[in-house]
Amino acid sequence: MVVYHQGPSLVVHTPAKLNLFLKILGKRPDGYHSLETVMVSVGLYDTLVFRESESNQTHLNCHRCDSLHTFSETPFPNLPAGPDNLVVRAERLLRKHTGFEQGVQIDLIKRIPMQAGMGGGSSDACATLVGLNRLWRLGLTTETLHELAAQLGSDVNFFVESPLAAICRGRGERVEPIRLSRCLPMVVACPNSGLSTPDVFRKWSSSVCASVDVDEYVDRLQRGLLSHEDGIHNALEAPAIELSDDVRSTLASLRRATMRPVGMSGSGTACFAVCQTKLEALGVARRMRGAGVRSVFVVNSRV
Ligand code: C5P
Repeated sequence: MVVYHQGPSLVVHTPAKLNLFLKILGKRPDGYHSLETVMVSVGLYDTLVFRESESNQTHLNCHRCDSLHTFSETPFPNLPAGPDNLVVRAERLLRKHTGFEQGVQIDLIKRIPMQAGMGGGSSDACATLVGLNRLWRLGLTTETLHELAAQLGSDVNFFVESPLAAICRGRGERVEPIRLSRCLPMVVACPNSGLSTPDVFRKWSSSVCASVDVDEYVDRLQRGLLSHEDGIHNALEAPAIELSDDVRSTLASLRRATMRPVGMSGSGTACFAVCQTKLEALGVARRMRGAGVRSVFVVNSRV
């Protein structure tokens, strides 16, 4: 996450994530699932611009943009800017927690695909906590930001300290940063349709539990030993395929386009392949586009 002042505004660039590994340990009494997941932060960013407001009203405007270096964005009516938006929920939670009364003008510039399992909404929520803590000089500690993050969603904590990669446990909110041995170039292919996270978790059945251990996986990842077969594990991939033919066909297209590890991120629907070099990733992306998959792009894990 990159945070800086630009005139009277505070600008936050906040990254996406991809899950290389997601194992479900079981269903908890509170309805959530206990999991172990390996998340990597990737160089694809949403941007939030915060401006102090004279009144106590908060306004959020959402825009869509394809480049990091321009703010000449277009309005984004598909993304609701009301109370369900995680950015608005984060702002309200922060005001409730601190009693701070002034409003804020927020522009959210979306680049991270939505309903894709790439953590876009969680990353935006976290950027709001971190950004407003700075803009309003609230002085909240990292520990408090983690407490608030956990109230907003299971993936929000991953972004609080912005690690390059981490093992996340519990329902996803317990973050243990890890190091990667190298930058991972990845080809992401987004099916046209998204999936609802609760629906995908509901479809999961314990019979598809991966047997591999997360520490063993991370050890092999760090030693660069991931092979085609054991490259990406995701216990939610089978339920997502059951719910979406788009996920099934996107994974099949990726497997035809490369022999490298292929899988799905989070609860979907973004699918991706981990390549050895950027050049190779660009070749896979070209083959995917040639096969008619429309939303394809290349990202690196952050280093
Ligand atoms: O925590 P978050 O609000 O992102 O979760 C959305 C939904 O995903 C939850 O309501 C739950 O149905 C499901 N979920 C789960 N176990 C997790 C994380 C999410 O069952 N560890």
